[in-house]
Amino acid sequence: MDPIRRHIDNLIEQLTLEEKASLCSGQDRWSFKLVKRLDIPAIWVADGPHGLRKAPDSAMTGDGDQLPATCFPTASALAASWDRDLLRRVGKYIALECLAMRVHVILGPGVNIKRSPTGGRNFEYFSEDPVLSGELGAAYIDGVQAEGVGTSLKHFACNSQETQRMVASAEINERALREIYLPNFEIPVKKSNPWTVMAAYNPINGTDSTANKYLLNDILKEEWGYEGIVISDWVSVFDRVEGIKAGMHVEMPGSSGINDAKLVAAVNQGTLAESELDKLVKETLQLIFKAKAGEKEDAAFDAEQHHSYAGEVAAETFVLLKNDNTTLPITAEKYSTVALLGELAVAPRFQGNGSSQVKPTRVDNLSDELAMLVGDEFQLEYSQGYQLDDDADMALISAAVEVAAKADVAILHVGLPSHYESEGYDRKHIDLPPVQVKLIEEVAKVQPNTVLVLSNGAAIAMPFADSVAAILETWLGGQAGAGAIAQTLLGIVNPSGKLAETFPVRLEDSPAFLDFPGLNRRLNYGEGIFVGYRWYDARKIAPLFSFGHGLSYTTFEYSNLVLTRAIITDSDILQVSCTIKNTGAVEGKEVVQLYVSDRESRLIRPVKELKGFVKVALAAGQETTVSFELKARDFSYYDDAFGSWIAESGDFDLHIAASAQDIRVSAAVTLDAQQRRPVHFDERTTLREWVQYPETRAVIHEVVKDFFLQNPTEFKGDLMDFNINEDFLLDLPVMKYVFISGGLITERQIAEALEAASQLTVKL
Ligand code: BGC
Repeated sequence: MDPIRRHIDNLIEQLTLEEKASLCSGQDRWSFKLVKRLDIPAIWVADGPHGLRKAPDSAMTGDGDQLPATCFPTASALAASWDRDLLRRVGKYIALECLAMRVHVILGPGVNIKRSPTGGRNFEYFSEDPVLSGELGAAYIDGVQAEGVGTSLKHFACNSQETQRMVASAEINERALREIYLPNFEIPVKKSNPWTVMAAYNPINGTDSTANKYLLNDILKEEWGYEGIVISDWVSVFDRVEGIKAGMHVEMPGSSGINDAKLVAAVNQGTLAESELDKLVKETLQLIFKAKAGEKEDAAFDAEQHHSYAGEVAAETFVLLKNDNTTLPITAEKYSTVALLGELAVAPRFQGNGSSQVKPTRVDNLSDELAMLVGDEFQLEYSQGYQLDDDADMALISAAVEVAAKADVAILHVGLPSHYESEGYDRKHIDLPPVQVKLIEEVAKVQPNTVLVLSNGAAIAMPFADSVAAILETWLGGQAGAGAIAQTLLGIVNPSGKLAETFPVRLEDSPAFLDFPGLNRRLNYGEGIFVGYRWYDARKIAPLFSFGHGLSYTTFEYSNLVLTRAIITDSDILQVSCTIKNTGAVEGKEVVQLYVSDRESRLIRPVKELKGFVKVALAAGQETTVSFELKARDFSYYDDAFGSWIAESGDFDLHIAASAQDIRVSAAVTLDAQQRRPVHFDERTTLREWVQYPETRAVIHEVVKDFFLQNPTEFKGDLMDFNINEDFLLDLPVMKYVFISGGLITERQIAEALEAASQLTVKL
């Protein structure tokens, strides 16, 4: 046994019940408890996720008084990079700051699914797609943890809205949970083993996430093999004893000892086994010692270097949504006077509100950055155009329009004011402030080369999209985002981000519109698995800009899609490859997406689902081969009738695409599934269900054949094929044939058939 484990076993022997209970909650805002008597040290946790928010003292809130740290682009921006390596490096940089500031665990990444564009914390989350969210979350965790600092994968699970966030229950069916709201956690848990997982505020199907045995024990620990600890979101616990039984290790930030005392009482009264406490405390001690072992005494970080890296990161995240007539980039050959409009150009919005707020080491703005790069190449004139803190004041518009009219090109920097997007509440709509919309309309009337630069953490509606020449989405780009915007506008950087979330034309088009944010503490996940592009595809609703969309200053050609086999079984790995060529004049990066589409299935499925992605950098004229691996799970749906993932035999289309709406090359593959599964039939199983598999069809054939032979009008064609024209008969539970057959079919025969079926396995 390794010495640490032996030491922990000894400690468990020596700790009193009270001390063990005390280790199940935090000491104060940001630290775990220590037990001085036994040299058990306290460790420090801090937000997260796109930079470090460390309070000067663990008992202080860290709201405004936090230590300066580098503010990287927020998660919605990072996700638009679609770049695992980038996320890994961001994780590393943040970990270096954690080490320098003596923080053991950073409270991130947040991988929750963007169910509605109005979700208040969408800026803190990656995507509407679980594979993209999960893969990027895993990369971030790898980057942080490789430096000896822990992460907290949050918020487990279904934390997709802020309204009534501590009490409203996510009412969700098992299939949607498994296919959409859990793989984003499953992927990082299995790939990257985050040191901690943070249980969410919201209950799920009526059970608190912090006391949810199904989620924390059965799925996270048993099914996925999670080895770390679960901490609660801040003040989210209602029932600490149930939490222990469910597998929730540490309550944060603690309950002033109230819940510790309840744990002691529960053990003394025999309603909680001390062994359950021991198990969790042991795992917590393992984390504490691992965290302490990661400390580096002389750690420090170079703020300037981190700032400039944050700028490089931002440049990878911008999405060129539209660029008519190559309006961008702005070059001296095309233009000589440039108008820069909008208060955001001098007062950037670079992060969201709430617990993730970093106190930046410095902040750049677009006006200065552009002026620096432009030098005397262009004439640059600025006009404010609107005030961020007054949505309705139109007084500044006309001066800005005048500046725009005189210039060759107008850069109009608009976006959501800070109070629009925050932890703690959801947006009511997805519109820009009225003053900004008006400004855009007026500028577009006088300036054909109007370029919108957007700063927002989540999707917005753009009724003005057709009236402007170019749109660059720059998200909440962190403290150095402005320099990256300037470089992108001038073509020094070629934009390479793609949307990780759909931008709808109207909020009313979005998947959760009718159910969000719910009523009476119930969040009905009525759209089920049809989240994000899965919804727009299925409902044939054209989005404004689709998932995966993003242009470049160059162009890419996709060709030569190769599959290693035409037929696979469910134990095979399919290799898929494709050639990508930069066919334009400048170097650029392309995000290549692989979607799987099931042609026919027992259950309704999304039209297509993202199962792979890769980002490649190519010089002008250069080409490369990208490859993907697909396994049975990538072809599967979750069927709660079987309680498992099902890879069903049949034909699938594989699409290599530049966006969810821009499929470039496709090929078909046939899945010949070998796995056999037991059927769960009972007296309510219909004839149609009985006849769907050859094995069970043979059994029921013997039971019902005489009835059908005696009633030829009820049935046409070959009896063994059950080519019965009457849906009515097919949809009768077989037990009902006892009654309609006038005694020909007996209850006993049905019971025997059910017994026979319970021994059978079938292929799907
Ligand atoms: C948030 C978490 C955060 C925690 C600590 C909570 O309100 O939901 O994301 O890590 O506070 O600040």
